[in-house]
Amino acid sequence: MTGADLRRPAPRLLIGDAPTGDPIADFVGPPRRGQLGRPWVMANVVASADGATAVAGESRALSGPADRAVFHALRAIADAVMAGAATVRADRYGPFRPAPGVADARQRRGQAAAAPIVVVSRSLDIDWESPLFTEAEVPTIVAAPADAPAAGRAAARDAGELLVAGTGGVDFPELVSELGRRGLPSVLCEGGPGMFAQLAEVDLLDELFLAISPQLVAGGAQRVLPGALLVPRPALRIAALMEADDFLFVRYEIVR
Ligand SMILES: NC(=O)c1ccc[n+]([C@@H]2O[C@H](COP(=O)([O-])OP(=O)(O)OC[C@H]3O[C@@H](n4cnc5c(N)ncnc54)[C@H](OP(=O)(O)O)[C@@H]3O)[C@@H](O)[C@H]2O)c1
Repeated sequence: MTGADLRRPAPRLLIGDAPTGDPIADFVGPPRRGQLGRPWVMANVVASADGATAVAGESRALSGPADRAVFHALRAIADAVMAGAATVRADRYGPFRPAPGVADARQRRGQAAAAPIVVVSRSLDIDWESPLFTEAEVPTIVAAPADAPAAGRAAARDAGELLVAGTGGVDFPELVSELGRRGLPSVLCEGGPGMFAQLAEVDLLDELFLAISPQLVAGGAQRVLPGALLVPRPALRIAALMEADDFLFVRYEIVR
């Protein structure tokens, strides 16, 4: 912990159960198990108070220490971590490297020491030499449609693992079900917004972790869910609310 962290007021859980007394762990909650015959799907997003999800094409300017702590706490409980290829490129994704305590806790609960990262791509224009592939403790999974470029599919197989789902674009219900068949009962989607919108469109979102960053951004950045109007519009229920450093963290459950 740095001097700056020591001066920072501790996060406060404002709504939600507090079985552990650690506000971040209580905000995130325990590992999830699918209840619908498929893995439980969570989305984690940080947005400015006016709804921007990126500044100059990157999300890190919106983040802060508590947001990063939530990001890591969510990864610590997830069985798979999914991201769109644009996010992987923009936010320079590396592999999930759990701290030793996190890896031990995961294994005690019967989870793998680290969750695989699942990169969703159509073009397969991916840096196969990046640490996301060369330094991953569990092979990085690339999810692509059947008609993705053959050379890219071969490269994905060589670099990690290829999972084919759908044609033209990845079919998310098929992908999520396949992850479930592989013994991964929860999937954490870290973006980008285009992925959140696609998951919501096929009613695959179970929980939304929204961090409201205390900034106004304006400009043309994407909203949390871009794209067409959702019909019907999913209703949300607040499962937990936390405040830290003027950020508000909301854990929404989709009402079904
Ligand atoms: N605020 C936040 O919490 C947050 C979180 C994540 C990202 N972001 C920001 O959001 C931006 C990126 O988000 P984005 O929504 O534009 O892009 P994205 O969802 O990260 O990635 C889009 C790419 O994912 C692949 N893809 C998406 N749907 C697909 C499908 N059904 N089948 C096959 N491939 C599919 C395609 O990859 P190919 O191009 O390889 O075909 C597509 O170009 C960045 O600026 C990033 O910094 C913000």
